[in-house]
Amino acid sequence: TTVLLLNGPNLNLLGTRDPGQYGTETLADIERRVRSLGAELGVAVECAQSNHEGELVEHVHRAREMDGIVLNPGAFAHYSIALRDAIDAVDTPCVEVHISNVYAREPFRHTSVTAPVAAGYIAGCGPFGYELALRAVLSRIEERRT
Ligand code: DQA
Repeated sequence: TTVLLLNGPNLNLLGTRDPGQYGTETLADIERRVRSLGAELGVAVECAQSNHEGELVEHVHRAREMDGIVLNPGAFAHYSIALRDAIDAVDTPCVEVHISNVYAREPFRHTSVTAPVAAGYIAGCGPFGYELALRAVLSRIEERRT
């Protein structure tokens, strides 16, 4: 079982970016955390991050060969129809995660165009949300196998 952990724009700045909202863990810390949970659960976790919409679309396409996706689309969640269509086009279940509680923030963050095509949605749990998302996508993968 292989899961793609995919992070969108500005998430490479985690650690120094608005720690009040996102905490002080870096993206490398988060990737380590998810990989080690994956190792515990017998799942390979492949990590990628991009600030570019088209590259994220291509990463999602690449995940056709994988079993699941954990995706933090960053701000693209709020308006990228291309990313939404990519998730919709592949048969690989995708769980969306946001570190911050987007519903406690500006109204423009309350909409996710990607969430309706996701297999699940987690927000406001901090970096721990990525671990929840990995467990959630694995349970979706299991459901599909039974
Ligand atoms: C985010 C929330 C988005 O609104 C924001 O644009 C981000 C990070 C989060 O993880 O909380 O880049 O996806």
